[in-house]
Amino acid sequence: MKVLFFLILFWISFFKRFTQAISESETTLVSIQTVFNHGIRSPLHNYPNNPNDIWSRYSSSLGQLTDLGMKQMYDYGVFLRQKYPSLNSTYDRTRAWALATDHDRNLQSAQMVMTGLFQPNQNTIWIKNSNLTGFYPVPIHTAPVECDQIFHRHSPCPRFNEIQEEARMANVAKENASEGILWKMKCQSNIDLGYYDLWRLGDKALIDAAHGLSVDKYISEEMNRLMDVRNNNFYVSYISTLEQAQLISGALLNQIVSYFYRKISRTTQNELYLYGAFDYYLSGLQRLMSTTSKFTQPNFGAAFIFELRKDSNGNHFVQTLWKDNAFNESITFNPVNVLGCEIMCPVDKFRSLVSPYLVTSFDEICKQKKLTVTSTTSTTTTTTTTTGSTGSKVTTTTTLRMA
Ligand SMILES: *[C@@H]1O[C@H](CO)[C@@H](O)[C@H](O)[C@H]1NC(C)=O
Ligand SMILES: *[C@@H]1O[C@H](CO)[C@@H](O)[C@H](O)[C@H]1NC(C)=O
Ligand SMILES: *[C@@H]1O[C@H](CO)[C@@H](O)[C@H](O)[C@H]1NC(C)=O
Ligand SMILES: *[C@@H]1O[C@H](CO)[C@@H](O)[C@H](O)[C@H]1NC(C)=O
Repeated sequence: MKVLFFLILFWISFFKRFTQAISESETTLVSIQTVFNHGIRSPLHNYPNNPNDIWSRYSSSLGQLTDLGMKQMYDYGVFLRQKYPSLNSTYDRTRAWALATDHDRNLQSAQMVMTGLFQPNQNTIWIKNSNLTGFYPVPIHTAPVECDQIFHRHSPCPRFNEIQEEARMANVAKENASEGILWKMKCQSNIDLGYYDLWRLGDKALIDAAHGLSVDKYISEEMNRLMDVRNNNFYVSYISTLEQAQLISGALLNQIVSYFYRKISRTTQNELYLYGAFDYYLSGLQRLMSTTSKFTQPNFGAAFIFELRKDSNGNHFVQTLWKDNAFNESITFNPVNVLGCEIMCPVDKFRSLVSPYLVTSFDEICKQKKLTVTSTTSTTTTTTTTTGSTGSKVTTTTTLRMA
């Protein structure tokens, strides 16, 4: 009788152990990694007849983080500090690391997030009675864009260009269906737009509205269609296939997974890793990890958080959170399932699910697959010379059909 009782008890606990997903409250935080899009910026193009001439104060360059964008990213840092009180509030380079692509708005965004996260304390006050009293300077690491091994989008990658070209060719029906709106927008904006430039108008409208500027009537009247086109432009250009998404975000995903394993094997003390990047790196991750089926161009400041957690038995889990609120909405993260894994995904399972998409080197996978794409219409031949990883010159000749 007694034996039976214990058998039942054992069975129940065994059953519970393997069927009930673990909840966040049964775990403690080990470390976090967050990948975010930069904050809201000034336009990327000049617009003729644009009455909104407020951008010059952000330097004469295009695409600079604006006051609102700086505040937005600072607020994200403050949010992280409140959400994760266990992260050490004293900046220490062995515990917190920030990396950004070598673009002003990404470097500045990373800097603002770190400023929100780390203030000087009693022992680290470096200036007294100053407007800078609450500011602690934190280094932001970067690599030149043409040799960045994690954020590879601005390095030569012939295979990526090939896929993008194919994706655009396959999208021609959608392009044709947008001919009406394209002509209307060309005429009313006075800009010589092609289908893959139409996103600019939705972009301009979002930025103008965010900075309290009036939105051109011809844009606001067609806003829904323009946002659809913007999302289609974005999808086709960056994440139309898993291979394309892998060429964008595969190395970043590899870095995230490897870093958690370094943490588990205690080869790093780091508890916070920050990545200041662009929207397509986030979408690439969404695509590879299958966290959504509805892809839209992420908002300024959109972000993933990857939490490494541990239960009382020493098992590690990855919990993935996603935020995509508009600049003027409160920061809202929601947990997402990675490739069908439970929210609190055992770390080994996480790694094996994403393993087909991890990139450790772009040398092979960036090579062209189709040497020539011939066509009866016009063709163009471009010759690019890049320096291979061994330092040798690699010359490739691409013949691509002009759409
Ligand atoms: C926080 O970091 C400081 C500086 O590295 C260290 O002296 C302190 O022990 C850390 N505190 C905790 C709770 O880990
Ligand atoms: C803070 O900055 C303002 C404007 O530059 C200046 O007038 C003021 O003296 C500064 N305050 C301190 C404590 O440095
Ligand atoms: C798109 O338009 C071109 C030019 O009018 C036409 O030749 C082509 O067949 C159209 N393609 C599709 C898929 O609608
Ligand atoms: C955010 O801004 C947009 C565009 O200006 C506006 O339509 C929306 O109502 C705003 N939302 C909030 C919560 O303020």
